[in-house]
Amino acid sequence: HEEFTKVKNIAKIELGRYEIDTWYFSPFPPEYNDCPKLFFCEFCLNFMKRKEQLQRHMKKCDLKHPPGDEIYRSGTLSMFEVDGKKNKVYGQNLCYLAKLFLDHKTLYYDVDLFLFYVLCECDDRGCHMVGYFSKEKHSEESYNLACILTLPPYQRKGYGKFLIAFSYELSKKEGKVGTPERPLSDLGLLSYRGYWTRVLLEILKKHKGNISIKELSDMTAIKADDILSTLQSLDLIQYRKGQHVICADPKVLDRHLKAAGRGGLDVDVIKLIWTPYK
Ligand code: COA
Ligand code: NA
Repeated sequence: HEEFTKVKNIAKIELGRYEIDTWYFSPFPPEYNDCPKLFFCEFCLNFMKRKEQLQRHMKKCDLKHPPGDEIYRSGTLSMFEVDGKKNKVYGQNLCYLAKLFLDHKTLYYDVDLFLFYVLCECDDRGCHMVGYFSKEKHSEESYNLACILTLPPYQRKGYGKFLIAFSYELSKKEGKVGTPERPLSDLGLLSYRGYWTRVLLEILKKHKGNISIKELSDMTAIKADDILSTLQSLDLIQYRKGQHVICADPKVLDRHLKAAGRGGLDVDVIKLIWTPYK
C-alpha cells in the first residue's frame, strides 16, 4: 500500500484546549499538505489552516457536542452515536483526525456504512471529545469495532478500556458475540488483552465448577477465539483426556489479574439507552 510509505504530513493539531503532536500520515486533501499545524473545531471537527479562521468559525458553529444521539451519560461522561450516513462530513473529518494516530488502518471506507461512538467529557462549555470507536452497521465477520482511538491528552486514564467495554455492551444488547477488526496496533492489542483478561478472570474467580468457552462467550459477548487465545497466552488451558480444561486456581488467577493492569472506567449499563441499528 502506498499509504505505508508516506511521510507524516501534518505535525500538530489544535483541538479544543489542546495542542497535540501527531503520530502518522493522514490523507488530508492536498491543499492541506503544506501546513505544519491544523486547527480543528472540537465540535464539528472541521479543520482549518489558520487560527483566525478557526476563531471566526467558532463564532458561527452551533454545535456543542457531536452531531448524533446521546446514548449514555454518567456524571460528566457522555457517549454519542453518530450515523456516518446522516453526518458524512463529520464522519470523514473524524477519520482524517483518527488516522493521524493510527498506523496501519486504511480509512478509505465509505463512512455511510459506519456508526461512530464518540466519548466526551462534558462541562458548561460543551462536550469535549476524548476518543471514539467506529463500528460497521452490518458486519459479516462479527466485528463489533473497526477503529478505536483515545486522543493523546486523554490516554492511559482508562478511557480505552471504557470504549472496549462499551463495544461489548452494545454486542450484548444485540445478542451477538463480537471481535475487533484486525490488525490491531500494539497499543490496541495491549488494551484488548487487558480487557479480556480482566473480564474473563473475574468470572472464573467467582464461578463454581466447570465452565466452557461457549458459556464464557455467552456471558461476555467476547468471541470464542479471543477467549481461547487470551486463556492460552496466560497458560490457563490444559488439554486433558482429549478436552480443553480451564485452570481456575484462585492464586494463579489473582496473579494474572494483578499483571493485567487497572480495570479502566466502568460502563454503567443502566445508563446505556440504546436499541441496535436496523
Ligand atoms: N505504554 C504501555 N502500555 C500502554 C500504553 C502505553 N503508552 N497505553 C496503553 N497501554 C496499555 C496498558 O496495559 C493499559 O492499561 P493500564 O493503564 O491499566 O496499564 C491499557 O493499554 C489500556 O489503557 P487505557 O488507559 O484504558 O487505554 P487508552 O485510553 O490509553 O487507549 C488506545 C488505548 C489503544 C485506544 C490508545 O493507545 C490509542 O488511541 N492508540 C492509538 C490508536 C490505536 O492504536 N488504536 C488501536 C488500533 S487497532
Ligand atoms: Na481497531
